[in-house]
Amino acid sequence: MAAAGLAAVGCGPKLAPSKPLNELTPQEAHGQQVFAGHCARCHYADRDSGLHGPGLFGLFRRKYLRNGAPANDDRVTDLILHGRGMMPAMGNSMDDEQLQALLAYLHTL
Ligand code: HEC
Repeated sequence: MAAAGLAAVGCGPKLAPSKPLNELTPQEAHGQQVFAGHCARCHYADRDSGLHGPGLFGLFRRKYLRNGAPANDDRVTDLILHGRGMMPAMGNSMDDEQLQALLAYLHTL
């Protein structure tokens, strides 16, 4: 029942909606494309519920990731570069500029 466990973590006070796509800065919009190419097959950006990995809605507006680590750039970068569990490492599939754009986009969720 892993899915039920993941869904339960998303409960609590409702977060305001993410920044609308048509208001993204050029860097954030670039990050959204990186997300579409590398992450969207496993993660929803607009909801809590899981696909192959947990939904990322409100990622940086939460205090903690689901494994209890603080939701900050360092921990999320580490996760993207090195992977964890069923999440593959992505360090070789994007350059630093793409990574920075991706982080900027993730901050809008
Ligand atoms: C093949 C599927 C897959 C892909 C592709 C993938 N992920 Fe994941 N992701 C997962 C899984 C599974 C987890 C849960 C990992 C665990 O066991 O802790 C996860 C966890 C995460 C988490 C932690 C969420 C939380 O609340 O704890 C973040 C953030 C994340 N992924 C971001 C990304 C980003 C950004 C990308 C694209 C660069 C990406 N993932 C690509 C499967 C994937």
